[in-house]
Amino acid sequence: VTLTDHHRPDLDLAALVEDYRVHRDVYLDPRVFEVEMDRIFSTTWVYVAHTSELPQAGDYKTTTIGRAPVIVTRAEDGAIHVLYNRCSHRAATVCQDPCGNSSYFRCAYHGWTFRNDGSLIGATFSDGYGSSFDRTRFGLGVVPRVDVYRGFIFASMAAEGPSLVEHLGNAREFIDFRCDAAPEGELVLRSGTHRYSYPFNWKLQLENGVDAYHGNFVHQGYFSRIPAMSQVQFAKGQSVGVSVDLGNGHGLLDSRDDLGELMGLVSGFGPGADEYRRRLLERVGEDRFAEIQRSSGEALNLSVFPNLLLIGVQVRVVFPRAVDYTEIELYPTFLAGAPPEYNEARLRAHEGFYGPAGGGAPDDLEIFRRVAEGMKVPGMEWVDLSRGRFREREEADGRRVGHVTDEVPQRAFYRQWRRSMVGQA
Ligand code: FES
Ligand SMILES: [Fe+2]
Repeated sequence: VTLTDHHRPDLDLAALVEDYRVHRDVYLDPRVFEVEMDRIFSTTWVYVAHTSELPQAGDYKTTTIGRAPVIVTRAEDGAIHVLYNRCSHRAATVCQDPCGNSSYFRCAYHGWTFRNDGSLIGATFSDGYGSSFDRTRFGLGVVPRVDVYRGFIFASMAAEGPSLVEHLGNAREFIDFRCDAAPEGELVLRSGTHRYSYPFNWKLQLENGVDAYHGNFVHQGYFSRIPAMSQVQFAKGQSVGVSVDLGNGHGLLDSRDDLGELMGLVSGFGPGADEYRRRLLERVGEDRFAEIQRSSGEALNLSVFPNLLLIGVQVRVVFPRAVDYTEIELYPTFLAGAPPEYNEARLRAHEGFYGPAGGGAPDDLEIFRRVAEGMKVPGMEWVDLSRGRFREREEADGRRVGHVTDEVPQRAFYRQWRRSMVGQA
């Protein structure tokens, strides 16, 4: 696994990630980025959209899987398709809008037109192609595997590989908690999209989304203004919460034992809360109700390899654009079946920390900028990820568990990164 070019010495991918530290070239070397596009984003399951974004026949959304532009559509028969956004004639993208509704896509270059299931309706001035032209061979490319878990649509550019359920593995339980908080058992992603970017490597966001250590310092000011926070050991040195390597690169912060009933209390206040709780209780029964209440919001942060995060009420998607440039899409969720005023209040609370002028998220971006700057120092080659290595334990089912502030989820990510990039654990 050695790549060469004439500017730099050989790049040995296997040597870049050790068990408890990561070489800075993992974040800085454009050749590493190229290989990531090939060996991670072209092979694994990647989240592309949520079914609630495409409720009607004809609805579509454009996004990317790694570098490849794709269109996620709901065809007339209700089936979901993930199509490459690439004209089968001379490669122009056929759809330019982030989302919309249309039963066909017409390429602006020479006018070829495709149905929303990808099939070619017609090539313009078709007599120029003669009688042997086979329309069925000129549909839009189809991403070979598409599957849906609880409304989350994933696609894989590889025809073969583990199933989506196998890939999600232990992460499913925590996706379930988010969905089961809705009286109708589903999330709804229709409150709008918050997009932003930062000038550094995409993996930093995956590390930080399940990092309980930093909140004490980066978000100190914010948390100090929330009175309830002084009454709980949330993600502190003395917390009893855990961080978990769920396997397959997925990571978890579990603060349920620190927050206890607090999460349930939070959901019990505010507009529409009584009605929300009544509807949820009716559907799930008392035991599951209590479990869901404890397991909501900030009590659980989940990262799904390679680029999906469930944090608070949001779905966050990380888009690597270049080795040193990353775009983020953040979708605050509504709970299907909850009173509108309850969903509204949930959204307002989300904005307080994560919004463009929120008390939290902008501070993380400033830290990313500082990390990018510091990484330029030559001769200091390693980023340390050893926190808690002496107290990490492995459970019977393979999960690795450490203290909530330990770097267990970051090590989980790089374990899978290494498996994908060089084929060894
Ligand atoms: S590139 Fe699309 S019609 Fe020519
Ligand atoms: Fe943060």
